[in-house]
Amino acid sequence: MTGSTPRGTANEQAAAQWVRGMFGRIAPRYDLLNHLLSFNLDKRWRARTVARVAGILDRPDARVLDLCCGTGDVLLALEARARRAVLGSDFCHPMLVEARRKIAARHFRTGLLESDALALPLADASLDLITVAFGFRNLANYQRGLEEMLRVLKPGGVAAILEFSQPPNATFRALYGFFSTSILPRIGGIISGSREAYLYLPESIRKFPGAEQLAEEIRHAGFSHVEFERMTGGAVALHLGQK
Ligand SMILES: C[S@@+](CC[C@H](N)C(=O)[O-])C[C@H]1O[C@@H](n2cnc3c(N)ncnc32)[C@H](O)[C@@H]1O
Repeated sequence: MTGSTPRGTANEQAAAQWVRGMFGRIAPRYDLLNHLLSFNLDKRWRARTVARVAGILDRPDARVLDLCCGTGDVLLALEARARRAVLGSDFCHPMLVEARRKIAARHFRTGLLESDALALPLADASLDLITVAFGFRNLANYQRGLEEMLRVLKPGGVAAILEFSQPPNATFRALYGFFSTSILPRIGGIISGSREAYLYLPESIRKFPGAEQLAEEIRHAGFSHVEFERMTGGAVALHLGQK
């Protein structure tokens, strides 16, 4: 398990730069495409993630970070549920601009950090919960991403990683593969104006570890009580681990 390797990038720095640039270009259309291309299932996946960590959000003193928050859909759901203001972070400025607009529209006090998930400007052992939705797969180094989460989590703190995955059923996997490699890049390309972004998406999903392997890597990084649940036939998986 190394990290995201977009085509044409030779090292981690180039991969991170490519990912940041690509999200910057699609930021204004990102939400629309998410909902459209997932048939609105993304809302359900995010809601389930928030429901799974509700016990932590209910604590009045819980410090929560939504990593790779993008345009902020998970962030807003966490903020709506949490008892104190939550934080979001992302290294792509245009995605954070969209998030800021949505936060302002809801009159929330959510904090935003423009920072790399591999080098967070946060103290050791300062957070009770980190969520990361569809961001982890894009990191240039998964191991370092997990280590950084462990560093900033308090002992007992929880990481919740929502990501695309490979459906275990061969027929569904084939159908999903056809949709994501043949249909999704066309629609995504037309609406976003960036076909490369929607070619990268299925390729990055294909290269990403399956749910069992990812659980093993999370354990190997040092998390305990690692578990996962598949959603939508395994097209998506939510992994939880505790420091
Ligand atoms: C697919 S979007 C997900 C956004 C949001 N979490 C959601 O659920 O819609 C992935 C996000 O991860 C961010 N990202 C990728 N690598 C990152 C890194 N190393 N540090 C910070 N953000 C990163 C991208 O800028 C992008 O906004």
